[in-house]
Amino acid sequence: MWLEGFLRTQLRGLLTKESYVALENKIPLLESRFKDIDEFGLYLHIPFCRQICPYCPYNKEIYHPEVAERYTSAVKKEMDIYSELIGNRPVTSFYIGGGTPTTMLYSGLDEILEHVFEAFNMQCDIHLESHPNDLTLDSLNAISSLGVEHLSIGVEALQDHHLKALRRPYSVEQVMTAVGQAAGNGFKCVNADFIFALPGQTCREVAQAGHTLVEMGIDQIAAYPLFRFPYTKLGRSTKETNHNVSNIFKRRKMLGILERIFYDAGFERTSVWAFTKPGIPKYCSVTVPLYVGLGASGGSYLKDVFYLNTFNVQEYIKALENGRMPIALSLDLSENMQMAGWLYWRIYETRFRRSDFQERFGKEFDRVYGRYIKLFSLLGFLKKDDGDEIFLSDNGTYWLHVLQDLFSIEYISQLWGTSKQEPWPEKVVL
Ligand SMILES: C[S@@+](CC[C@H](N)C(=O)[O-])C[C@H]1O[C@@H](n2cnc3c(N)ncnc32)[C@H](O)[C@@H]1O
Ligand code: SF4
Repeated sequence: MWLEGFLRTQLRGLLTKESYVALENKIPLLESRFKDIDEFGLYLHIPFCRQICPYCPYNKEIYHPEVAERYTSAVKKEMDIYSELIGNRPVTSFYIGGGTPTTMLYSGLDEILEHVFEAFNMQCDIHLESHPNDLTLDSLNAISSLGVEHLSIGVEALQDHHLKALRRPYSVEQVMTAVGQAAGNGFKCVNADFIFALPGQTCREVAQAGHTLVEMGIDQIAAYPLFRFPYTKLGRSTKETNHNVSNIFKRRKMLGILERIFYDAGFERTSVWAFTKPGIPKYCSVTVPLYVGLGASGGSYLKDVFYLNTFNVQEYIKALENGRMPIALSLDLSENMQMAGWLYWRIYETRFRRSDFQERFGKEFDRVYGRYIKLFSLLGFLKKDDGDEIFLSDNGTYWLHVLQDLFSIEYISQLWGTSKQEPWPEKVVL
């Protein structure tokens, strides 16, 4: 553990030149932060689920229709505040995540979507996360009629005993029916989320599930290894950690099995964990670098600041009912932090252009990160470098992500773990 902490501090110092990073309970002056931004992404968090899965790190609570109704009004109020700030500038990416957004399909989602189109200059499609149990033929039609064109489904596993161990309330047969119906419903992209490296899972089972996934007729597969977040039920009940060496090699082996199956079936890698059919627009969270997060636990990233709403649904609603912003924590970002954040997300996408970096920061990419790119090349982490665009190899993608996890799992655990316990934390030190 101390070695992980040491590595984290050293690497962070190297990349961001910061030895101390803390989010504080300050609301940034938003008017000035919104200036000089041409386009925005929107993220909306729906923090309700019909059951709580033991491995899940996201902000959620059990769905109650009367809370969803008050939540709908609060989200509309929050949108009105941002509508004033953004004006007519285009919103070019919109993602509704959770929790389980489909819990609100008949209790406010339509009202929220109507309001989004009134409040903002929407120039993009709608991406929505869903739970398999919410996907009947009727509800799929209701989802389509809301204008949703990109749908993700939490399949999670394709063996009944693993679904049971994950406490998922459906069988393989039921989830396959739901996915099959979704795939035939005319969406531009249907994505299935799948989790591997489950306790006791064999390589054979992973291969079997991989073949089933490609036979389902979906456009994209997001295959994540099981992450153990210390503040979840799973994290508390297990001694294994994400950085356990045998875990890291087991994940690489299983991901290699899935890569082969997905490539053979014609899928292409579109992010660390996602594989998409060619010619299909990739299903992913907000696709533009700067975005506003709405809802309880919504996070916003503007050029030089990151801020986070309260995670507590009642406090979120109360704040907006009283005309206050629901922002709980914020962090001013130095230029080095912004550049490191930029690189972090581009590595996640497995490819990036030097010219995009130059355009955003007015600096030559190689002057800032050239020596790391040389090192990546020597380690076999690059597939192609055409002088502008850099493509990571499968090995590079995996091992760089192991390094990224050293930060993300720990930071998410600190930030989300604390925010879940305290609605308005004084400070969270990362
Ligand atoms: C918000 S949920 C998806 C929608 C819906 N709530 C559901 O569960 O079907 C997002 C996805 O994140 C993934 N996920 C959640 N916790 C995870 C963990 N500990 N490790 C790996 N993936 C995880 C799962 O694949 C899950 O489907
Ligand atoms: S995995 Fe999905 S259904 Fe389960 S608790 Fe997380 S968000 Fe809710």
